[in-house]
Amino acid sequence: MPIEWREGDRQLHLHNGQISLVLRVLDDGTLAQLHLGGAMPADRSYRHLGPDPFEGFSNRVGEPVPLAYPTAGTGDFRVPALVVTAANGSTALSLRYRSHRIRAGKPSLEGLPATYVEADAEAETLEVTVADGPANIEVDLRFTIFRDRPVVARSATIRNAGAAAVDVDGAMSLAMDLPDADWVMLGLAGSWARERHVVERRLVPGRQSASSTRGASGHQHNPFLALRRPTTDEAHGEAYGFSLVYSGNFLAEAEVDPYGATRVRLGIEPDTFRWRLDPGASFTTPEAIVAYSSAGLGGLSDALHSLFRERLARGTWRDRPRPVLINNWEATYFDFDADRLVQIATTARDLGVELFVLDDGWYGARDDETTSLGDWFVDRRKLPNGIDGVARRITDLGIGFGLWIEPEMVSQRSRLFEAHPDWAVGVPGRARTESRQQLVLDMARPEVVDHLESVLADVLGSAPIAYVKWDMNRNITEPWTLSLPADRQGEFFHRYILGVYELYRRLTERFPEILFESCAGGGGRFDAGILAFAPQGWTSDGTDAVERLRIQWGTSLAYPLSSMAAHVSAVPNHQVGRITPLATRAAVAFFGVFGYELDPTVLDEEQRAEIVDQIAFYRGHRELFQHGRFVRLISPFDGERDRAAWLVVSPDRRHAVVGTYRLLSRPDPGPERLRLRGLDEAATYRVTTWPGFADRLSAANDGERSGAELMTAGLVLDLERWETVVRGDFWARLFVLEAVPSAG
Ligand code: GLA
Repeated sequence: MPIEWREGDRQLHLHNGQISLVLRVLDDGTLAQLHLGGAMPADRSYRHLGPDPFEGFSNRVGEPVPLAYPTAGTGDFRVPALVVTAANGSTALSLRYRSHRIRAGKPSLEGLPATYVEADAEAETLEVTVADGPANIEVDLRFTIFRDRPVVARSATIRNAGAAAVDVDGAMSLAMDLPDADWVMLGLAGSWARERHVVERRLVPGRQSASSTRGASGHQHNPFLALRRPTTDEAHGEAYGFSLVYSGNFLAEAEVDPYGATRVRLGIEPDTFRWRLDPGASFTTPEAIVAYSSAGLGGLSDALHSLFRERLARGTWRDRPRPVLINNWEATYFDFDADRLVQIATTARDLGVELFVLDDGWYGARDDETTSLGDWFVDRRKLPNGIDGVARRITDLGIGFGLWIEPEMVSQRSRLFEAHPDWAVGVPGRARTESRQQLVLDMARPEVVDHLESVLADVLGSAPIAYVKWDMNRNITEPWTLSLPADRQGEFFHRYILGVYELYRRLTERFPEILFESCAGGGGRFDAGILAFAPQGWTSDGTDAVERLRIQWGTSLAYPLSSMAAHVSAVPNHQVGRITPLATRAAVAFFGVFGYELDPTVLDEEQRAEIVDQIAFYRGHRELFQHGRFVRLISPFDGERDRAAWLVVSPDRRHAVVGTYRLLSRPDPGPERLRLRGLDEAATYRVTTWPGFADRLSAANDGERSGAELMTAGLVLDLERWETVVRGDFWARLFVLEAVPSAG
């Protein structure tokens, strides 16, 4: 049994040999969290790890008692997990144990995305009810442990058991106390077209955080935080990962107290949140995931990748090979007609592309960013035979057809805005701030969600559509909703995202065969919450290969390759003007869900031939790229930031592709080796280089090598010594490793 209750110690131990969580009901009823981390033996008492006896905070005010769900105003002065303003205005709260239940499997969270199990035997869930008497607040704390994963999932439901309304002013999904502060905090930060760069800082006394107040998780920070020991690297040492299964405003924070203990909090951003609870009403937080690794950051990513790929993503497309697609955005922007699209699709089909995506500009009268969002009917000036007409011409070519939509938005110049000006988010009497010349629809209003479901279902049902790119291109300003009274406006942001989830749920259920890809000006809402509805996301509008190395590296800390759409785009690159070789662009984009974002009709013969080879290569290794284990080798954030290397290896370790990248070449370089990881040391691999041309690099490496050699001596990587003059900057090479049957 992975969840054990020791009556005598009033101790609950969740364990599975990979992770342990020990909770104990202290003498005064406080629920303490004595340990969360490395596996510890079952059937033992750990009460000595906590304050014992504990008569409450009376004589221990301010001491770092490790709490499962901390509150404020009753002796713990650190940041709280839960703040409730009671009917009398008090925010003092102290939660005491009432009861607990252990059940097989994992319950779903109504209206919210969450990880799941396919059979009850995969997990066990503990639900502990704690309560505050004077405030009449009950809280159900849920902890799920998975049988085979070093992961615990947490959420909480807060209930008003009193006779008067109260306000929840902050309800974290997770709070976790660690006994020391010898940690480096890792976050994923950036901006548009450069999302999720790795940022690290040593923990110091006080609070350090990442957050969003934009209405979406955002380009700037990601609802993910990791802690690693200063000595932890990719392959060794302890690390924790905290991921919020949520796409709205969030807070991810570590606080170090005067005694050097660390508290991590993860949940809905409290400054932009206030939830009214009438008598009997309850509020459920989003789910938070905590993963533990004793095998470095790589081990942490392994745990999160497989959980997200196998038990967060869902639906028809969860496990299916994703099509190699071409998207017309950077090829045409708004300037196209049906013939132009068919021309692009035909050329792309001839190169091996499997699906064509029609991006922005097909609806209303949209020739630029100033009009038509919300008018989800076809623009017959551009597409006289409708979406169906162009879709059929393209599917007749033998490839799939996909469509871009941006459901949550409206242009002031649109029929929708004319008909329903009050559907746009804004505060009466206050000017609305436009961004990208568009406004946001009030997804907190059920009639808006109903309308969008109906018009979008009409579009999606009107033609053979195999794929949808769901975009969201601006953040929320002047937050306010007509659907709530003044004293409930604090609910707006969360209700907005619940509305988004509801629309996603309805459309994905109505169109189970459609592959949904999420997008938000690139990666502005790339999080575990959206992954529950769309198994892949447009990782970034930054399509430059050099920038993408950093984005994909950072993203891979938490998210699997199967979630990261990665496209080869034209040069000079549209975001940074950089010119990189076509082979390098592909060598980066292969490590994700592969596609193109360029005009293939303007390429010369040689480039087309190269693309044919690229697509054949990706298709030949697609299973590996989409479901293999991703191993990071050389970080593009380290040293002079001009090197990177990684590999992907099959679960049986018989097949791998290594990517190695040199950004800037330098004069007079020395010899270099690339030591691999994750292979079978007893196996013999046939190594071949890609692109496949005879040069000194392939001469040095191509052939049979033992796994042991590849992981200790490594590949011979004297790229610069041999090739600087020929190849210049932005040089990439792949190595394909295939295990050969052993001689004995
Ligand atoms: C966003 C997306 C792009 C493209 C444009 C269209 O920026 O990230 O890929 O779809 O919108 O307007």
